Amino acid sequence: MTGGPESEGVSLDTSVPHIARVYDYWLGGKDNFTADRAVAERVIATLPEIRLSVRAQRAFLGRAVHYLVAEAGVRQFLDIGTGLPSASNTHEVAQRAAPECRVVYVDNDPIVLLHARSLLTSDPAGETAYVDADLRDLGAILARATEVLDFGRPVAVMLLGVLHCIADEDEPATLVARLMEAVPPGSYLAISHPASDVATEQMATSMRAYNDQAPVPLTARSHAEVSRFFDGLDLVEPGVVQLHRWRAGTGAPGTGAPGTARDLPNYGGLARKP
Ligand SMILES: C[S@@+](CC[C@H](N)C(=O)[O-])C[C@H]1O[C@@H](n2cnc3c(N)ncnc32)[C@H](O)[C@@H]1O
Repeated sequence: MTGGPESEGVSLDTSVPHIARVYDYWLGGKDNFTADRAVAERVIATLPEIRLSVRAQRAFLGRAVHYLVAEAGVRQFLDIGTGLPSASNTHEVAQRAAPECRVVYVDNDPIVLLHARSLLTSDPAGETAYVDADLRDLGAILARATEVLDFGRPVAVMLLGVLHCIADEDEPATLVARLMEAVPPGSYLAISHPASDVATEQMATSMRAYNDQAPVPLTARSHAEVSRFFDGLDLVEPGVVQLHRWRAGTGAPGTGAPGTARDLPNYGGLARKP
């Protein structure tokens, strides 16, 4: 697996915005640069709910992981599009409920690689690993993941806030289907994804504000499009919903969602492979 912050040869292009650093800014983090902050503020100006939405996304991660460990009995996670380490990363939530959980993190952003050490703080009973790879390079991801995860047992594939970084021409649904083919029955798929059909005009304006400035464009998708990623799987109740409403009020301490009365343009869902 890849090394930690002192890894040699990691170079950051700070002149253009990167989603990991922009997301870090929205979450109130410090690992971002002028170009990231500029585009993050442009999006806030058009969609003030973005900060609440990204916090709700982290809370969804917490509730989904806690459900997977405490209710579904899953002990293995493949978390692709990890993001910068933040409060309650996947292995922390999982190992709080079952210390033997094993987590493989995958991200393609050099700044996440630089901070990977914070993700490698596994409970000795379990294991965490970090793979520096692109979601579109599934061969590399699966080859490395099998060094840590047992693909004969259920694996939760976590694609939280990452599929919108994959353009339609790169066939995100095919990538999801290939990932779910690689894991056995009883495995799970978790997705969170910005919505194109909630606060529709504001979302379209904010996506343009981001995409005008960033080298990797983002694609918000509709409820129907996000639901199609789960084809062939059994959705856990309540299905694909605005993610702050997904099993709100459940989960470990600190994973609560913001109030459910308002709309947030961000879908979440979890499903089991039959
Ligand atoms: C918005 S953050 C989401 C972080 C975390 N999963 C969460 O839900 O809080 C998206 C992450 O996906 C990563 N990412 C974007 N495109 C990717 C790709 N093609 N392959 C791997 N990681 C990618 C980014 O570098 C970033 O760290």
